[in-house]
Amino acid sequence: MLTHINKVADHVGESVRLGAWLYNKRSSGKIQFLQLRDGTGYIQGVLLKKQVSPEVWEQATNLTQESSLYVEGTIRADDRAPSGFEMDVTGIEVIQQADEYPISLKEHGVEFLMDQRHLWIRSRRQAAILRVRSEIISAIQNWLNGEGFTLVDPPVLTPSSCEGTTNLFHTKYFDEDAYLTQSGQLYMEAAAMALGRVYSFGPTFRAEKSKTRRHLIEFWMIEPEMAFVEHEESLRIQESMLAHVVRHVLDHCKSELAILERDTSKLEKVTGSFPRITYDEAVELLNREGMEFTWGEDFGAPHETKIAESFDQPVFITHYPTEIKAFYMKPDPKRPEVALCADLIAPEGYGEIIGGSQRIDDPSLMSERFDEHQLSQDDYAWYLDLRKYGTVPHSGFGLGLERTVAWICGLDHVRETIPFPRMLNRLYP
Ligand code: 4AD
Ligand code: MG
Repeated sequence: MLTHINKVADHVGESVRLGAWLYNKRSSGKIQFLQLRDGTGYIQGVLLKKQVSPEVWEQATNLTQESSLYVEGTIRADDRAPSGFEMDVTGIEVIQQADEYPISLKEHGVEFLMDQRHLWIRSRRQAAILRVRSEIISAIQNWLNGEGFTLVDPPVLTPSSCEGTTNLFHTKYFDEDAYLTQSGQLYMEAAAMALGRVYSFGPTFRAEKSKTRRHLIEFWMIEPEMAFVEHEESLRIQESMLAHVVRHVLDHCKSELAILERDTSKLEKVTGSFPRITYDEAVELLNREGMEFTWGEDFGAPHETKIAESFDQPVFITHYPTEIKAFYMKPDPKRPEVALCADLIAPEGYGEIIGGSQRIDDPSLMSERFDEHQLSQDDYAWYLDLRKYGTVPHSGFGLGLERTVAWICGLDHVRETIPFPRMLNRLYP
């Protein structure tokens, strides 16, 4: 039976067997220190020349970086060790002596590391990020499940667009044209009419020619959709969900956040009741701060960063001009030139992490919108049906997983938030 490194606390004073890789090694003639990792954690193995057999000593001496091995030894609590434990090694069984490993513990350029992504994810930082990503996913799903949401999986191959036609990924579907999904939302609206409160979690695709720190070609979205929920209630659901996620990561990912050197005092401030400003107020704020901005334009990254600087918590920007938003957003009945929508902007310059809105529920307005947006009535006939057969007020939103991970982990670029990023110039590995 193998023990995992994150469970050695239960085995102090006992002899255990680990399956591990060697990520670093130090020696001083009479003593060798093996830095071991097994995916669950890190531990230092200690060998004293006079206490182990010559074979074991020899095997340890020959180990190269990333060699795979089984190690036996006694677990000892040690206050000086970062994990609090060390292992006095008694036996080594080498599975494979690794070839010379391309990623040394020195600095490497990003393009090189991206080419080596299949190996790079073994590094401490990258593994910590992927673990936080996994915790964020389960925190979101646990929260939604607890609030009575049902998980529904939308298709990946779709016949039409959700978020505009400019960045669709085209493919053939036998004799028809198909597109990789940009968002599961339209299908989630259908599902909400069947199940009330639903969410999807899956990959989405945008053939965006933008090469920024925030854009991926393939990214993952969580998309809740709720029948009988209006704009205001949707915002409350978003802030409760996100505050829960941040709290969960602070409580469950302490060692990962430490590896990432994340300033957690900034995350501690994210407690819910996020500030809200209207698009109009955001435009005023920008002009007041000396960034010229005309009503009717869309915010770019520098604008979002400037707006976010005024707040400690994520901020909702609500009521964007209807013109610049998606075809399905419900216009504010009191002021139809703006929509009942909100983007949630993360603090510290991480930009938009959630986009959401109340949806149009009136069939004739929906039908007009298809024409205005040059979308075929035939392609969207099923979507119009949702407004013909028992239409109800409903709202939903999409949380971009990678931007959320980048923000919570405090990363410069979304490329490190997903195991194998797909970017403008990258499809390998
Ligand atoms: O604002 P978006 O485009 O909204 C939608 O797709 C809606 N249909 C969602 C809904 O209401 N169900 O995208 C939602 C979020 C953004 O806020 C952002 O976090 C992320 O998805 N996102 C991207 N993340 C990485 N790379 C890209 N190219 C992204 N585009 C959007
Ligand atoms: Mg958006």
